Amino acid sequence: KLKRSLSANVRLSFEEKRRKIENIVRPFILSDDDYHKIMDKMLDNFNKGLGKETHPKARVKMFQTYKGDFLALDLGGTNFRVLLVSLDGKELFDHIAECIFKFMKDHNLIDKVLPLGFTFSFPCRQAGLDKAILTSWTKGFKCEGVEGNDIVQLLHEAIERRGDIKVNCMAVINDTVGALMSCAHSDNLCAIGLILGTGTNACYIERLENVGLWDGDWDEPQQVIINTEWGAFGDDGALNFIMTEYDQKVDKRSINPGKQVYEKMISGMYMGEIVRLVLVKLVKHGLLFGGRGSEELKQMGRFYTKYVSEIESDVDDHFKNTKQVFEELEIPNHTEEDCRIVQHVCCLISTRAAYLASAGIACLLNKMGRPDVAVAVDGSLYRFHPHFHDLMMERIQQLVNPGITFRLMLSHDGSGKGAALVAAVAHRVAEEKQN
Ligand code: GLC
Repeated sequence: KLKRSLSANVRLSFEEKRRKIENIVRPFILSDDDYHKIMDKMLDNFNKGLGKETHPKARVKMFQTYKGDFLALDLGGTNFRVLLVSLDGKELFDHIAECIFKFMKDHNLIDKVLPLGFTFSFPCRQAGLDKAILTSWTKGFKCEGVEGNDIVQLLHEAIERRGDIKVNCMAVINDTVGALMSCAHSDNLCAIGLILGTGTNACYIERLENVGLWDGDWDEPQQVIINTEWGAFGDDGALNFIMTEYDQKVDKRSINPGKQVYEKMISGMYMGEIVRLVLVKLVKHGLLFGGRGSEELKQMGRFYTKYVSEIESDVDDHFKNTKQVFEELEIPNHTEEDCRIVQHVCCLISTRAAYLASAGIACLLNKMGRPDVAVAVDGSLYRFHPHFHDLMMERIQQLVNPGITFRLMLSHDGSGKGAALVAAVAHRVAEEKQN
């Protein structure tokens, strides 16, 4: 009898534990209604960004970009950031110029005059193909003296200070535009560029008549690429209704609180940290690792987003990757159940990210109304996460209007190649004008 009641107790406590865990993670599960609501608000934000009167106050800026042996430079991902903390704007561009110099030296290009395409993956108000004014740093960058300035000019000044290379920056583009360009080159149905990496953003081809702000020549192109800078969606509070306590913490502790709200719920710079905060909470409530985590786990930023991809790649009960992550985090004791719980948490948070990004893409697809669109996607999160692509395909399908078909295409280093392409075209046009 005692045995029976004991086992009933154990089962009860198991179910109790499960219930408690589900309560903690439930806020990450959104309803269909939620996603539709997000799409409606997003469309409203897109239209405000495009409208002449509404643009100045709009959070989602919808910047116009210009259409239109090469070098390409890519600043904006993870690679440059390490250095940046201690640099001011002048030093940053001196450093970039030095990188160009080293590259040219290594490739015996020092004596050549080279046109350069610059992928600068930050929000810029574009005043021409080769003139882009940084509005604000995102993704953890902070570097004095660059905001409000033309980054092409800063680069040219740095090149002149050196005086040992001949490089002419012909074009500066956002990484989303690079991704779009490098795919559109071979596939004329490609009309959206999407980045899911350190940050997230999308650009798309818009009909000129929808762009209230267009101040260029109306006889010129019929279409223009809009860099949405959708990462800033939610900065007006539009996403407060789905924000969890973990999202709020991530935002508060970031270098740009209140900014890039949508980006912080989706992209690689933040995803691992959201997972970590949930795990810490589970440990605190005695629901994970027998209530004992580790110093490592308590450290902000210590749970890398690549762990999420690794953990979700475990398909059997060996939990090889998951256990490896636990080892790196110096977790003293863990059970198979702990592995399952952590996997579950990762899955919920990455799925929410994939669905949120899907809502954005579906919103664009519906807005564009084209029957068949290819989306060029680049970025480490999309590339390395085992299910992101499939989750997005499924969700976008559910959210788009009937009659719209789409594809998500990986654009390998598209953002860099796109810049070279644009610079190449710009260079040729300039030469033709001269002749
Ligand atoms: C951030 C930047 C944006 C870029 C995106 C992806 O959102 O503001 O310009 O495209 O990250 O790198």
